[in-house]
Amino acid sequence: MQYPLKEATTLEFYKDNSNFKWVVVLIAILISIGSIYYTSIVVESLKDREKRLIDLFANTLEYTANEDGESNLTFIFDEIIVANNSIPVIIADEFGIPSQSKNVKKADEAKTERERIRILAETLKDMEKDHEPIVVTLRNKNKNYEITGYNYIYYQNSDLLKQLTYYPYIQLSVIFLFGLIAYIAFNSSRSAEQNRVWVGLAKETAHQLGTPLSSLMAWVEYFKTDDRFKDSDIIPELNKDIERLEMITSRFSNIGSVPQLNEENLYDALEETISYLQKRVSTRVKFILSAFPNKDIKADINKPLFAWVVENLCKNAVDAMSGTGTIEIKILKANEGKVMVDISDTGKGIPKSKIGSVFQPGYTSKKRGWGLGLTLVKRIIENYHTGKIFVKSSELDKGTTFRIVLKV
Ligand SMILES: Nc1ncnc2c1ncn2[C@@H]1O[C@H](COP(=O)(O)OP(=O)(O)OP(=O)(O)O)[C@@H](O)[C@H]1O
Ligand SMILES: [Mg+2]
Repeated sequence: MQYPLKEATTLEFYKDNSNFKWVVVLIAILISIGSIYYTSIVVESLKDREKRLIDLFANTLEYTANEDGESNLTFIFDEIIVANNSIPVIIADEFGIPSQSKNVKKADEAKTERERIRILAETLKDMEKDHEPIVVTLRNKNKNYEITGYNYIYYQNSDLLKQLTYYPYIQLSVIFLFGLIAYIAFNSSRSAEQNRVWVGLAKETAHQLGTPLSSLMAWVEYFKTDDRFKDSDIIPELNKDIERLEMITSRFSNIGSVPQLNEENLYDALEETISYLQKRVSTRVKFILSAFPNKDIKADINKPLFAWVVENLCKNAVDAMSGTGTIEIKILKANEGKVMVDISDTGKGIPKSKIGSVFQPGYTSKKRGWGLGLTLVKRIIENYHTGKIFVKSSELDKGTTFRIVLKV
């Protein structure tokens, strides 16, 4: 861990609960495995039972065919063969020609005898794939039990067993679907709540700044009429501060409402922001602005908010370079009505494992950071400009490039 001290103290309430998420996922996987495993045990034992029933069926058949004493046989036959009303069975002769069947619904519904035999022959092939047929040896009792032929009993698992095999999958997918819907609903209501907080707070800030600001402006006007301040720096300095406060107010009021997007020339907008920033950072930071294929690239932006984005990205870049280096801003016209703005620095880079976290609220590696700059940037680009922002590349001790994609 690179910044243990800071990470422990920063915005605990914003810490994401990803550990908890993994525990839930793990439990869900365990439940799924357990449920499938348990059903497979039940299915196996049921399968075994069905197999034994069919064996019994075959033995009875063999017995019935070979003994003609009818004493108790009807009873056994009824008990076993007739009582089987779930397992589909077909009896065929040595040549595989079906003769009788039980629980083969399609064959029972056949209109003609030929159709019935055809259906049975087809079903029989399916059955053969599932289970080896059971051989019934036919003997002649009167001729010293000499073998006279064979019968084959083909069978399939009952519908109940088939349903049971699929049951856990159906059950789990229903539960999964329900979980997914609940998760989406929960997430969207949470982000709606976050939106309300952002918007409300921003609106309130803009509103509160308004009062002292207009009072300050009135004071400046008053001072201008006073000869004592005529040649001092006070009035221009105050005016600068007022401008700065006005800028902050307009940013907050824009983020607190549905901001108006206007088609602006990006080069001009960026040049303005850079010249503002250049005055405020060390002279050892060099800004390079370029546009391809030419400077006439327009995009729909809200100027105060977009300036805020660039300012935040450049401030991070300056921090990453410890005040010395080059910030290069490239505007690129892409296909399909898209414009890209790449902001590169020659700073210390972002460790690979942290690239995924930089946009998270509260993530910071700085002593005096809040970890909110990039959260705001992402919000402005994605929610207010329906654009995209991501770390395009970053190499330790070489530099980082952030890319913004905007619509024309
Ligand atoms: N250009 C960059 N080069 C290297 N690391 C960066 C760069 N930009 C952002 N980071 C990393 O991402 C973190 C989060 O940036 P973010 O702007 O959200 O917060 P912050 O700058 O730490 O605090 P603040 O809320 O004051 O902006 C930074 O602390 C830094 O570790
Ligand atoms: Mg920052």
